Amino acid sequence: MLNFEFHNPTRIVFGRDTIARLDALLPPAARVLVLYGGGSVRQNGTLAEVRAALGGREVREFGGIEPNPTYETLMRAVALVRQERLDFLLAVGGGSVIDGTKFVAAALSFTGEDPWTILETHGANVTGAMPFGSVLTLPATGSEMNPTAVITRTETAAKLAFRSPYTFPQFSILDPSKTFTLPARQVANGVVDAFVHITEQYLTFPVDARVQDRFAEGLLQTLIEIGPRAVAQPEDYDTRANLVWTATLALNGLIGAGVPGDWATHMIGHELTARFGIDHARTLAVVLPALLRERREAKRGKLLQYAERVWHITEGTEDARIEAAIRRTEAFFESLGLPTRLSSYAVGTEAIDGLVAQLETHGMTALGEQKEITPEVSRRILEASL
Ligand code: NZQ
Ligand code: ZN
Repeated sequence: MLNFEFHNPTRIVFGRDTIARLDALLPPAARVLVLYGGGSVRQNGTLAEVRAALGGREVREFGGIEPNPTYETLMRAVALVRQERLDFLLAVGGGSVIDGTKFVAAALSFTGEDPWTILETHGANVTGAMPFGSVLTLPATGSEMNPTAVITRTETAAKLAFRSPYTFPQFSILDPSKTFTLPARQVANGVVDAFVHITEQYLTFPVDARVQDRFAEGLLQTLIEIGPRAVAQPEDYDTRANLVWTATLALNGLIGAGVPGDWATHMIGHELTARFGIDHARTLAVVLPALLRERREAKRGKLLQYAERVWHITEGTEDARIEAAIRRTEAFFESLGLPTRLSSYAVGTEAIDGLVAQLETHGMTALGEQKEITPEVSRRILEASL
């Protein structure tokens, strides 16, 4: 097992009717900015519930945070907090709203010239953040219990991530019934995003990290088991509860402690979103199978373990078992309605030069757990995904 430090300070409040807990979770005199997205939380009553729970506190609202939140929009939230002298941020929404709130929190404490450098340094220059919490409405990213945010700068079509010890939410409220109004497409996206968060930390090389492997395998099997039902039965509370907690555990640091991380699927996927606006999870469904085939030798040990323990494939040569496991993975994504080929998005060969150039511009030139995914390897992965 590799050396590690593990610290996760986020309090999770899980279950039905938990939004009322906000009153106890926020300081009584907090001056609060509630941040939300395009209006789903207004339509489904979540925002009204949040307002009621905040009681007599000073509250301002900032709506309009986009899926793939933009720097341009978030800087307007920063200005509002300063103007109104607010001191606590509350994200109400999915990963985009929570990520956006993390950026606002960090930008408010930032003393340098240009807050965009928070993204360029991937958070290394963050020295503090305004306290914030979240009310999660979409299980997918794990943002509710991790310190990471992914922010897009529209001007340059750059989608970059940052993380900092200062940007863990203080608390996150996870009420699975708040996910009932999600469109099926977003639920399916969430299942696949969580699935790939797990494979990024599990399908690397063996380091004899037994409990991390078994946690990862348990989370993957849970997603395979509940994914289709979570999409088909929006108001099945227990299925949604399992999905919410699985997605949180997939990226809260637990299964990644003491093991190598890959993350190349995500980095290549971010370029596809920045360039073509394809939903985050949909980029992963396209890149992961091609990446696993390209990296089959480096990942051989874990791919065989994945085939056996997750998909119960025990017959055939090693190569046949690995190929069968990748095919099962593709079939799972497709069964949820996520295509596994770039051509489904009308993206063809002509796009590849530009995508590889973007990876180079963003310093993504030695990706993966072995740092062997050079721009040339990324090119082969993209070509194979067409
Ligand atoms: O904007 P509104 O109107 O709220 O609608 C949203 C949005 O259109 C809707 N939605 C959310 N909750 C709903 C709902 N609609 C009905 N009922 C509800 N209860 O869903 C749409 C998508 O929301 P979004 O927040 O964009 O989705 P998701 O949670 O998948 O977040 C995606 C973002 O997270 C980043 C992605 O790159 C992307 O920008 N990621 C963040 C990570 C992290 N912080 O650790 C890791 C991930 O790998 C990922 O990169
Ligand atoms: Zn993701």
